[in-house]
Amino acid sequence: MHSTSIPHAQSIPIISTSLQFCRVSHARVMAHLEIISFLVTVLLHSLNPALAVSAATGQDQFVFSGFSGTTNLTLDGTATVTADGLLELTNGSVQLKGHAFHRSPVRFRESLSSPVRSFSASFAFAILTTYPGLSCHGIAFTIAPSTDFSSALAAQYMGLANIDDNGNATNHFFAAEIDTMQNVEFQDVNNNHVGVDINGLRSVAAHTAGYYDDDTNGSGSFHDMNLISGEVMQAWVEYDGEATRISVTIAPVGMTKPVRPLVTAVYNLSNVLLEPSYVGFSSATGPINSHHYILGWSFGMGGFAPAIDIARLPKLPRLTAKPRSKVLEISLPIATATFIVALGTLVVVLLRRRMRYAELREDWEVDFGPHRFSFKDLFHATDGFKDKNLLGKGGFGRVYRGVLPKSKVEVAVKRVSHESRQGMKEFVAEVVSIGRIRHRNLVQLLGYCRRKGELLLVYDYMPNGSLDKYIHCKGERPTLDWAQRLHIIKGVATGLLYLHERWDKIVIHRDIKASNVLLDKELNGRLGDFGLARLYDHGTDPQTTHMVGTMGYLAPELLRTGKASTLTDVFAFGIFILEVTCGQRPIKEDDQGDDQLFLVDWVLDHWHNGTLLETVDTRLQGNYNTDEAYLVLKLGLLCSHPSACARPSMQKVLDCLDGDAPVPELASTQSSLNMLALLQNKGLNPYIVSCPPSSTMSFGTISDMSGGR
Ligand SMILES: *[C@@H]1O[C@H](CO)[C@@H](O)[C@H](O)[C@H]1NC(C)=O
Ligand SMILES: *[C@@H]1O[C@H](CO)[C@@H](O)[C@H](O)[C@H]1NC(C)=O
Repeated sequence: MHSTSIPHAQSIPIISTSLQFCRVSHARVMAHLEIISFLVTVLLHSLNPALAVSAATGQDQFVFSGFSGTTNLTLDGTATVTADGLLELTNGSVQLKGHAFHRSPVRFRESLSSPVRSFSASFAFAILTTYPGLSCHGIAFTIAPSTDFSSALAAQYMGLANIDDNGNATNHFFAAEIDTMQNVEFQDVNNNHVGVDINGLRSVAAHTAGYYDDDTNGSGSFHDMNLISGEVMQAWVEYDGEATRISVTIAPVGMTKPVRPLVTAVYNLSNVLLEPSYVGFSSATGPINSHHYILGWSFGMGGFAPAIDIARLPKLPRLTAKPRSKVLEISLPIATATFIVALGTLVVVLLRRRMRYAELREDWEVDFGPHRFSFKDLFHATDGFKDKNLLGKGGFGRVYRGVLPKSKVEVAVKRVSHESRQGMKEFVAEVVSIGRIRHRNLVQLLGYCRRKGELLLVYDYMPNGSLDKYIHCKGERPTLDWAQRLHIIKGVATGLLYLHERWDKIVIHRDIKASNVLLDKELNGRLGDFGLARLYDHGTDPQTTHMVGTMGYLAPELLRTGKASTLTDVFAFGIFILEVTCGQRPIKEDDQGDDQLFLVDWVLDHWHNGTLLETVDTRLQGNYNTDEAYLVLKLGLLCSHPSACARPSMQKVLDCLDGDAPVPELASTQSSLNMLALLQNKGLNPYIVSCPPSSTMSFGTISDMSGGR
């Protein structure tokens, strides 16, 4: 008698039950069943010749090319069949075990006393890891007398044994382990090996994972395989019952089975396996989570396992199999990008901060330390030089109001652009020395700061602003009365005298004008910006000397030679007091509006006509002291005399203003000197002459007045 199978479909396992060793009491019943079974088989064979082989050989065998819809597995622990048809032995949770056995046990012997027959198994497997290069523990193809492994341990015991029973002959199991950890207690060869286990986890034979190629009749060279590469691999576990030889072979999936096995062990399984036994898999994770998958499996008694249909194997769930790595795959690039962006931003912020507050500092400045302000302080004092703090724009730069962060002192910060570093040392020395000048009619210079291409000068803040706003206002502000104007004129004269004659060295202001006269709380006139012109006047070559000043305030000889002196200051002061008294700009439009008229010429004309007081600002509405006005106008004309030697010194000017000395008579020769004519005869650059009359802007760099650079 021979056993028969009931073929159903190729992926459904077919297990036949050998009847000839059944107990006698059942023999008749079973014989009838067998006849029915045989008839069904014949019927099916006639219908489907493709199944003829399995039936004709009469071997116990099955094949799973994927596990979709199967009911022939007994699963426990983490083992499950996924929707895709994968047999998932472990699911990524740590320290868990999972088992999958074929539901029907297999008879390995022809009779209870006969030896274990040859058998063969093959399976396709894959191990997916959460952390590249790290995995535990592995998969074991297992033949065991029971599917109950509840007392077995996970981790290195792979769900097969526990501390007490490991290796016991009573275990009666055989396993081919695919092990990704090296456990010293089991004398594992490494963390990537295949072994043959009998009753315990200490392998009777093992080899590092890989295969021998077939090039030279099966003794080909060895190729390493990485069990946790995530690739699908195939394993063959074979037992030759006659030779009692176990051999285990692995290879990349799709490759034909290498001729030379990876591991062989001679071990008589007849002394191990009980009858019947279950075939299946055991797997476990340890402290590291891994997914252990079986994609397909076939088994056959008698040394022949049907081929697994590789093409029909389910796909590995690369992403869902590694939920943590999915999170990582998405979050890691984002986190990396975020980190890089954050780092970049930080660098930019720090660089900008550095750039924003960057200053120029040189060794020679050490001496001037106390006069040096940090740019950061000035930046914060002025709210980052916001427009709302802009006090005014001048020829030298913009002036901002600010409050020093620490001392809460109100200051005016002047930003002077200055590309040239030439003469900077001298200039800063002068600024610092000027900073020591303290006079109630001079705007106190508190200190400086230097940056690339820029100089910042810090002055006392003058709450009432500059004088020109009061003199030339168009009705918005109350204009100054005569007494206030005279007070301011005297104040400015005192300040200028101090610069010219009272200070250690002669300081030439170079840019006296109404907009450079600032008013303090008590409406004292204070000269500002003194010495600043020096910044542009360090040249020694007269040809390239840059001239500084403001149109309308420039003495004729200054235009000719470019050389400033105390007397060019006196000239400008003369124009200034005419400006304050007449309430007119130094260059005014005539009645037709197309010609420019110099204020000084206009006043001079009135002086000639004996109508000098008609030039006094009409906004005063006649409310002024005529003697004082007459004196100031005459003094103004005298100071702005085209001939430098005719001008008085500032001491003399102050004597006159104080009434201590009479104003010298204007020389009659002056009547023949028309200022405008004089200037034009000197070949003045037409650009300057054609300046709009309202322009009282400073121009910092007028070089070469007679054309040609
Ligand atoms: C894995 O299986 C175990 C046991 O069934 C379960 O408790 C655990 O939540 C599963 N883990 C995952 C990640 O599915
Ligand atoms: C000058 O400033 C003081 C103080 O800020 C103020 O009280 C006074 O009104 C100002 N004078 C003029 C003419 O604006």
